[in-house]
Amino acid sequence: MLAALRTGTGLGKGFGWPLLGPSGRHLSYVLGIETSCDDTGLAIVDTDGRVHANVLESQQEFHTRYGGIIPPRAQDLHRARIESAYDRCLAEAQLQPDQLTAIAVTTRPGLPLSLLVGLRFARHLARRLKKPLLPVHHMEAHALQARMEQPATISFPFLCLLVSGGHCQLVMVRGPGRLSLLGQTLDDAPGEAFDKIARRLRLHVLPQYRLWNGGRAIEHAARLASQPLAYEFPLPLAQQRNCHFSFAGIKNNSFRAIRARERMEETPPDGVISNYGDFCAGLLRACSRHLMHRTQRALEYCLQPNVQLFGDAPPTLVVSGGVANNDAIYANMEHLAKQYNCRSFRPAKRYCSDNGVMIAWHGVEQLLQAGESCLRFDYDSIDVQGSAGFANSLEADVNAAHIKCKWVQPLD
Ligand code: KG4
Ligand code: ZN
Repeated sequence: MLAALRTGTGLGKGFGWPLLGPSGRHLSYVLGIETSCDDTGLAIVDTDGRVHANVLESQQEFHTRYGGIIPPRAQDLHRARIESAYDRCLAEAQLQPDQLTAIAVTTRPGLPLSLLVGLRFARHLARRLKKPLLPVHHMEAHALQARMEQPATISFPFLCLLVSGGHCQLVMVRGPGRLSLLGQTLDDAPGEAFDKIARRLRLHVLPQYRLWNGGRAIEHAARLASQPLAYEFPLPLAQQRNCHFSFAGIKNNSFRAIRARERMEETPPDGVISNYGDFCAGLLRACSRHLMHRTQRALEYCLQPNVQLFGDAPPTLVVSGGVANNDAIYANMEHLAKQYNCRSFRPAKRYCSDNGVMIAWHGVEQLLQAGESCLRFDYDSIDVQGSAGFANSLEADVNAAHIKCKWVQPLD
């Protein structure tokens, strides 16, 4: 399919840009700009999915000091860094600004103050260079990222579990702008729960975790467990036969369990409970199992004979977003998919978390799928949106299907 699209029919016509040749090689370069949260990411990707530059400036160190993201400070940091990140990006790619075909920029969903920095910078560049803009939906970009490395293998449609710091969603992906929502979290996202629980555990006072995000620290700590079965958490939404998620209950139970242990051990106010590894193992197991159950129901829904959402394509599950970095969670998803003869993929770890590459690649996907119709010169009518859904929702259908599952046992 991509090969056919790479012939570039129509793309670039009238604008004097290089057309995509039959080989698709090196002919179009898209700059991607990501500033939806606390990472300033700029990257240049070509229409073959080759990454020519990838600059990522994390604000983790700053926000760790304050125990969370302060939106006006995040905005200041993006502002202070975006111009030099752009210069470094061009230098790394050894390209002149003129050689860019288009500028893709995250416009939704995200922190509005942060999104605005990226959009204003993108508009300014687009005007100066007379280049088109490609507005990008951040969660769609996570969903499409795995295709950059294997576009021919991961064909549309596929089922995608999006797990990040702000979202938890199951979506059927048919192409850029063509996603259908099957289920989503009713409260916290898993990454958000991990970050808050890690903070409450005070894992950041341990030198090895000082600059790590909560999810990564919990994954590492869980491997140190001597009694991995010491903590059990009740499974959320066990009575609801749909594909929604909930992590607030697990988070609140975690806070209670930590407080009880701190009282018992008389942990000092800047200390960490002695069995934090056991605790993290129990937490990860509960989250992993919950994610598995909801994804299993989504697979059963998609594979129903009267639904057949995969059509003629091989059943495929993609896991993406920052939490997809987690090997324990991904191994369970891979295991689950196998039981349904379904293939599973995740992006390379460096592209699971927020970055500019995924935004540039989404721009490429838009170009490949829609041609020049997706290119925007009406710069001022493009705006940011703090929250944004998908084109279509199947949530009511999933609810109505009321699917009962015989649970696949997790690997642990
Ligand atoms: O996709 P992402 O970079 O940003 C958002 O769009 O939210 O995801 C960030 C989230 C953080 O909450 C972080 O705790 C989580 O991804 N995360 C992980 C791991 N690495 C990052 N969660 C579990 N295990 C990991 N190894
Ligand atoms: Zn993200």
